[in-house]
Amino acid sequence: MCSKAVKWSAPILVAAAVAAAAISAAAAQVVSSDKLVQERQRDMKAMAAAAKRINDMFKGTSPYDAKAFKAAAESIRAHSGERLSSLFDGSVTAAGSKASSIIETERPKFHDLAAELGVYASALSIAANRNPDVLGPEMRMQGGDAMMGGPIARKPQATRDVASIPAEHAFHMMLQTCTSCHAKFRLQTE
Ligand code: HEC
Repeated sequence: MCSKAVKWSAPILVAAAVAAAAISAAAAQVVSSDKLVQERQRDMKAMAAAAKRINDMFKGTSPYDAKAFKAAAESIRAHSGERLSSLFDGSVTAAGSKASSIIETERPKFHDLAAELGVYASALSIAANRNPDVLGPEMRMQGGDAMMGGPIARKPQATRDVASIPAEHAFHMMLQTCTSCHAKFRLQTE
């Protein structure tokens, strides 16, 4: 009776084992994509916090501190480019993520925006080196720079003359890069 029971249950055990393996593989996948989504969102939040610190210094709501300014710029730079792109490799959409599947079909544009972010962040980091004590007038947008939307506005070639524009202008261009990427590649639903 005992051996009969074993015979009986063997196929069931095999089936159960296969099912269990399938379930744990699926669970592992959910966990890993969950982790990736959390990482993306954590990175994005870190960039938002860093951008706010820089913004507060331009606004004068917190005192200029070249080291803190540079650290914030470096944080954004470190989270940009390849690092940013790689968090959206492969299949992009996932539960809890607002990443749009358009990323998969327009990767070059996504990569460009991620890289552009790094170029502006580097320019800000260099500006902090050049201005160790005060957020001086040469860091400020003025004249034509302030009229970014006007006829004399020119969008600097991200890789070419970004170092020659005032830091505040580079900062605004950087925020526009955040916004452009979100407008195109982040789902707008709440
Ligand atoms: C190359 C594209 C791209 C750039 C550039 C970019 N983002 Fe994002 N951002 C995304 C995508 C896609 C998501 C949605 C991620 C998700 O939910 O998986 C996102 C989400 C976010 C979120 C929400 C995170 C959360 O907790 O859900 C914040 C905040 C954010 N970004 C801030 C920024 C800031 C600030 C910048 C610029 C300094 C920036 N992003 C630049 C693509 C970008």
